[in-house]
Amino acid sequence: MSEKAEKYRLALAQVQALTEGESDAIAKMANVAALLHETFAFWWTGFYRVVGEELVLGPFQGPVACMHIPFGKGVCGTAWERKETLVVPDVEAFPGHIACSSASRSEIVVPLVRDGKVVAVLDIDSEHLSTFDETDREWLEKMVTYV
Ligand code: SME
Repeated sequence: MSEKAEKYRLALAQVQALTEGESDAIAKMANVAALLHETFAFWWTGFYRVVGEELVLGPFQGPVACMHIPFGKGVCGTAWERKETLVVPDVEAFPGHIACSSASRSEIVVPLVRDGKVVAVLDIDSEHLSTFDETDREWLEKMVTYV
């Protein structure tokens, strides 16, 4: 197992313990964001929740961020529209990328799907290019099922 996968394995065990018996999604999002941010020292780690026709900023760690993202816009809105994880090695090459911070260079967005509907997305930004790969996708997709 790679060093990154091993970190995810431990983080997932912590998420399982932290979320057990907890029914409040925002409380769970807050601790998952904190745990991931601290474990991996990402630039920005947080959730956007689907509220009506847009994504609204939820619990996060890192610098202040955009508060509203329309359906289909940016990486987050596109992951919502496609109902699939997006791994973006270079945000400047992604059409319509929403730059909340010019320091962000690469990004992964993982939708939380409940009963066939996206209810939120987990967005992680890095200040380095090509930070995220299939290992991140695999573990983060597992992790968000506990939120
Ligand atoms: N870059 C994102 C917007 C959210 S922030 O980076 C925190 C996007 O294009 O959806």
